[in-house]
Amino acid sequence: MDRAPIGVTGLAVMGRNLARNLARHGHAVAVHNRTTAKTDALVAEFGDEGTFLPARTAQEFVDALERPRKLIIMVKAGRPTDAVIEEFAPLLEPGDMIVDGGNAHFLDTRRREAELRERGVHFVGTGISGGEEGALEGPSIMPGGSRESYAALGPLLEDISAKVDGSPCCAHVGADGAGHFVKMVHNGIEYADMQLIAESYDLLRHAAGLEPVAVAEVFRTWNTGRLESYLIEITAEVLAHVDAASGEPFVDVVLDQAEQKGTGRWTVQTALELGVPVPGIGEAVFARSLSGAADVRAAARGLPGPVHRTGADSGIADAVEQALYASKIVAYAQGFHQIQAGAAEYGWDIDSAAMARIWRGGCIIRARFLDDIRRAYEADPATPTLLTDDHFAAALGDAQDAWRHVVGKAAALGIPTPGFSSALAYYDALRAERLPAALIQAQRDFFGAHTYRHLTGDAVYHTLWSGDRSEVTG
Ligand code: 6PG
Repeated sequence: MDRAPIGVTGLAVMGRNLARNLARHGHAVAVHNRTTAKTDALVAEFGDEGTFLPARTAQEFVDALERPRKLIIMVKAGRPTDAVIEEFAPLLEPGDMIVDGGNAHFLDTRRREAELRERGVHFVGTGISGGEEGALEGPSIMPGGSRESYAALGPLLEDISAKVDGSPCCAHVGADGAGHFVKMVHNGIEYADMQLIAESYDLLRHAAGLEPVAVAEVFRTWNTGRLESYLIEITAEVLAHVDAASGEPFVDVVLDQAEQKGTGRWTVQTALELGVPVPGIGEAVFARSLSGAADVRAAARGLPGPVHRTGADSGIADAVEQALYASKIVAYAQGFHQIQAGAAEYGWDIDSAAMARIWRGGCIIRARFLDDIRRAYEADPATPTLLTDDHFAAALGDAQDAWRHVVGKAAALGIPTPGFSSALAYYDALRAERLPAALIQAQRDFFGAHTYRHLTGDAVYHTLWSGDRSEVTG
C-alpha cells in the first residue's frame, strides 16, 4: 500500500492516539511530525496495530494521501496551527481537506476556513473531546466546515468516535467555525460542572463533616443514579486516593489553585459578546481565577467569618445531591442557550439534540443526563430554555427546597458556593414575574436620558427628571 485515505500530522499524545485509533479501525494512516523521531517512535512502538505510512517531509506526507486528501492537524492552537497550514496549503489541490483537531478559537477557524476556501481547500475545524484516552478509545467529535467535507470525512470520523447505544458520538455541527464553537461551549460547561462538583465536595466535607474517603463513597453512590457521569466517577477515584509519601488524602496535598488553558474564558468572553447569560460558566472561570489569586487570598485570610464554620449534618448529603442536580441542569441550559445564540449570530444550523447525543459518550462531560437533554430537544427543538422541559421542570421543582436549604446553609457556615448560588439565582430570575431591571432602566433614564419603554407598546419614553418630571416620547 502506498497511499492512505487519511493522515495525521502532529504526533504529540493526542495526534498519536488519534492515528492509532484510525489504524486500529482498519484505516491506513499517513503519519508525520515536524521532528521525525516522534514518527519513528510511533511506528516502532505501535506499528503492529494497523497500517501506518510514515512520512519524513511535508511533501512525502501529502504524496502518501489518496485524493481528495484528508489531513488531520493536531498541533497547538494559535500560531503553530497557522504555521502548519501555511506549510501544507501550497502542496494541496482543490477539494483536499484539512481537519484541525485542536482547541482552536472558533473565530480563527472562521478566518482560516474563508482563506482556504478561496484556494478550493476545505478547512474543517473539529472539536475533539475525551483527552488522551478518548483519542485512542473513541472520542466525541464535533466537526464544522462544509457539508461536502463531512460527506467524505464523516464515515471515518464516526467510525473512530465513541458509540452510545450503537450511535456514533460524532455529527456535523455546522459550517466554518461551528465545530470549534460547540467544543468551546462544551469546555465552558465542563468548567461549570467541575465547579459544582467541587462545591459539593466542600459541603460534604465541611457541612456534613465527612472525610475525603467517605465523600468518595457518596460520589460513588451518586454515580449509580441520575448524576452518573465521567466527572462524578473520576471525582470518587480522586477523593479515595491517598498520597503515598505523606499518607494524607491526595486532595489535601494538592495546591488549591486551579489553572486553565483558556477555553472556559473564551466561552464567557463570547457569551458577553453575544449577550447570553452564562453566569454558571462565568462563576466557574472566576472561581479558578480567585483560587489562583494567591496574594489577595493571603491578604484576606484573616477576615472574620461565622462563628460556626463546620457542621456534622450528615443528612445534608441528600440535599447536596439535589442542589447539584438542579445546578447542573441550569449550567447545561446556559451552555445550550449559548449554542443557539451562536448559531443565530453566525448562521449555523445547529441541531441541539444531536449535540446532546454526541456528548453522551467519549467526551469529558459525558453523562447519563445528556440523554434527557437529547430527548428534550427532540421533543421541542425550538425551546427557548431546557428548564421548561417537562422532565427538567419537574426535577427543578422537586429539588428547589433542598437547593435553597444548601445555599442557605453554605452561606451560614461561610462555605463559598458561587456555582450553586448563581444557578439558583438564575432559576429564580428566569421564573420571576417582575425583575428589578425596571428600576435599572429608570436609573439609566435619570442620569443619562437613556430612555425606557412601558409594559405595553413599543414606544420609547424619557422623563424630564431635572425638570417638571413629565414624560416625553424619546
Ligand atoms: C476535552 C477537554 C480538553 C481541555 C482540558 C483542559 O474535552 O477533552 O476539554 O480539551 O483542554 O479539559 O482544560 P483546562 O486546562 O482549561 O482546564
